[in-house]
Amino acid sequence: MSGPPSSLTRRAALACLTGLMAGRAQARPETAARVSLAGIAAGRAKVVTRQSARVIIRHRTGTEIEAMRQADPPSRDPARDQDRVQNPAWLIIDGHCTHAGCPVWPLQSSAYAFRCFCHGSIYDVSGRILRGPAPRNLLVPDYRFDGPDHILFTDP
Ligand code: FES
Repeated sequence: MSGPPSSLTRRAALACLTGLMAGRAQARPETAARVSLAGIAAGRAKVVTRQSARVIIRHRTGTEIEAMRQADPPSRDPARDQDRVQNPAWLIIDGHCTHAGCPVWPLQSSAYAFRCFCHGSIYDVSGRILRGPAPRNLLVPDYRFDGPDHILFTDP
């Protein structure tokens, strides 16, 4: 006997999907205004939640930095890599897709560093839009370095 899925079934499916996405990202949200960069290996990312914001910190490898500096900016929303980072090794970006605001997830890829699973937008390791319906690059939040190993979010 089949029928419409129960709310319990829908909740289980949603929890499963959320778990898959979180596993794919291999990043655990953290709530803080001052965030330690220790333990984020080169090529890996960390998701931070603070108030209603969701921020992704990506530790870029030397190869990734060089690739971002040498490549022509993607044409949809042209922006130079050096204008999007304060320290080339660290990309700090808002973790919401610029299409419809879904969460963006870090991938273990230098070419396609962030993906939105709602409609498939893909961003490079500078947070610039490469593919999909998103119209703009991922936003860069207000922050500053507080010593070599911490960042401090400075927006309200
Ligand atoms: S919300 Fe990200 S692609 Fe639509």
